[in-house]
Amino acid sequence: MRLDIIAALPRYFDSVFDNAIYRRATESGLFRVEVHDLRDFGKGTYRQIDDYAYGGSAGMVLMAEPLSACIENLKSQRSYDDIIYLSPDGEVFNQHLANRLSLCQNLLLICGHYKGIDQRIRDLYVTREISIGDYVLSGGEIAAAVLTDAVLRLIPGVMGDESSALTDSHQDGLLSPPVYTRPAEFKGLKVPEVLLGGNDKAIREWLHEQALERTRERRPDLWEQWGDG
Ligand code: ADE
Repeated sequence: MRLDIIAALPRYFDSVFDNAIYRRATESGLFRVEVHDLRDFGKGTYRQIDDYAYGGSAGMVLMAEPLSACIENLKSQRSYDDIIYLSPDGEVFNQHLANRLSLCQNLLLICGHYKGIDQRIRDLYVTREISIGDYVLSGGEIAAAVLTDAVLRLIPGVMGDESSALTDSHQDGLLSPPVYTRPAEFKGLKVPEVLLGGNDKAIREWLHEQALERTRERRPDLWEQWGDG
């Protein structure tokens, strides 16, 4: 997968991609990310990328021209499965959407800032708008980092242990069961007997029951959907 990210604060991603999973994914050729500085497409001495909103509402808006120039430049090099604008107005991101995006070849992410981006960019280029939750962040960079992380770990071969992404919370519509590691007893609390016994079938059943119980208790919304599915 190739991911292009257009951002007003490109340096934000320096630390985000400074980790072993990302390095392994890029070194093995499974994933490539390029962050594009929107300011490179701004005009004038100050390479302006934002301006006041028409109509007098407070806050700055990312201008159409630099965004369009950057998008056109990228589109002339490859075609994108989706051009995604990260915005609190978008469809709410979840594991199902992460799974779908992980199957794409080329994705372009646009990070908003201030009051957002000129509506005409949304009308002309954006094919999907995604929110990472019902709250407002100061910029789309954090949302793009969240989306990238969730999608990257689903690309086959990226995670060391292939099965680990498949057993994540939400992957089958359920929360994950509890996990334990050594020691077998800690501050008087023992690891459940079944996990120490080596009976694979019993362990699988126990884990599934725990996942069901956790989901029923903590996320009645997911539990209802799971029952329906
Ligand atoms: N930009 C600002 N807030 C956001 C959110 N909740 N999700 C995605 N992008 C955003």
